[in-house]
Amino acid sequence: MSRIDQPDATDGSKQVRAISTERKGRSPFYPGQPVPVELFVGRQEQVDRIMTRGVAQVAAGKPVAVFVQGEYGIGKSSLAGFVQFLAEKKYNLHPLYVPLGTAENPDDLGKEVLETTLKSGAFNPTRADRIRTWLNKYIENVTFFGVSIRLDAIKRDAPHIASGMLPFLAEVFNRLNDTGVKGLFLVLDEINGIAADRRFAYLLKSIVDGNAMSPKPIPLLLMLCGVEERRRQMIQHHPPLDRIFDVIEISALSAEEMKTFFENAFRSVDIEVESEAIELLIEWSAGLPKIMHLVGDAAFWLDRDGVISKGDALAAVMVAAEEVGTKFVDQQVYRALKSRDYHAILRKLGKISLKSNSFMKSELEKDLTDSERKKLNNFLQRMKKLNVLRSGDSMGEYEFNLPMVRAYIWLQSRRDG
Ligand SMILES: Nc1ncnc2c1ncn2[C@@H]1O[C@H](COP(=O)(O)OP(=O)(O)OP(=O)(O)O)[C@@H](O)[C@H]1O
Ligand SMILES: [Mg+2]
Repeated sequence: MSRIDQPDATDGSKQVRAISTERKGRSPFYPGQPVPVELFVGRQEQVDRIMTRGVAQVAAGKPVAVFVQGEYGIGKSSLAGFVQFLAEKKYNLHPLYVPLGTAENPDDLGKEVLETTLKSGAFNPTRADRIRTWLNKYIENVTFFGVSIRLDAIKRDAPHIASGMLPFLAEVFNRLNDTGVKGLFLVLDEINGIAADRRFAYLLKSIVDGNAMSPKPIPLLLMLCGVEERRRQMIQHHPPLDRIFDVIEISALSAEEMKTFFENAFRSVDIEVESEAIELLIEWSAGLPKIMHLVGDAAFWLDRDGVISKGDALAAVMVAAEEVGTKFVDQQVYRALKSRDYHAILRKLGKISLKSNSFMKSELEKDLTDSERKKLNNFLQRMKKLNVLRSGDSMGEYEFNLPMVRAYIWLQSRRDG
């Protein structure tokens, strides 16, 4: 087996490794889940902006609406969770985090908002009690682990909650006001499905306008999280919506932020990371928090001796590449390219893809057959359209958009021989 398949494999250390694996605690990495507050890094500018122009304003009585915008997996939900935590701690805004992943229409929205409200205040017995007393009819029973809810009753009333969202939120606030709550922080996340329903855009606008015009506005921070396309779609449904949101854009993390993240995460579980290993993890994560967690998690599980070496890091990159590859690249690239010649070119690209993030067309061209060479230009165009490649700085130069994709293409070409 190569070093990549089995990093640092020497017989002498096997026993030590077996013991340390059993003792392995919980991984500090959260692929696919918002990051816990203590491991959140970066986003200083965005956090400051939300805190000063959003949270502080709301705590002073003025409602605000923001849209956290960024690509898939860039960290929208994590940012929302982090600022909700700060807003509760520093300004006493009551957090309501509503995931709308399965919601398609206003009724679904009503149901999710009601459910979130019922379960809110879990860490503050007085607040939880206020909410539960008020919304008692939706509760089956309350156990040590939380409330179990009466779904039938919730579903029945969901349409009323949706059409009366503003009075409902006003009532939440009124019930909590004398417990020290200064406002509500409502996050509507995962809006992909519901944004397609034009009624959602009208509903949002009516909540914001209705609140602004009310003689006694609710101090409400309304935050939506989504990709830019969803915001545009909503504006298309109802153009005035464009004016209500302060758009907070998030993009890739810097190398320094990623370094801090890896150092903190490994330190929290007493694992040492060699500086060359950190460099590798940073290079391959390419500023994408989603990849950072995948790669870090793979390194955590591969480690056997409490020290992440360069070999461990490289092996972790390959594990992560495999995961990214089978989930996305297979579907979106390999299956999209139907022609045999395209696949052959891709295999040859794989052979040179690990060397650097960019390559010259001439370098790839060298190894192609006549028929493949004729299709090379079209192939490169297709790869640009599929978001795998972009043009580089010099003529005939191409760069990979995502380093993980080039690692996967390399892995595939090795498998195909
Ligand atoms: N600032 C951060 N610090 C550390 N880890 C982060 C940070 N932001 C996001 N992550 C991690 O990156 C991954 C993606 O984050 P998150 O789920 O918040 O992104 P998202 O933009 O909401 O994704 P989606 O588009 O799928 O909803 C998760 O594993 C999360 O733990
Ligand atoms: Mg999210």
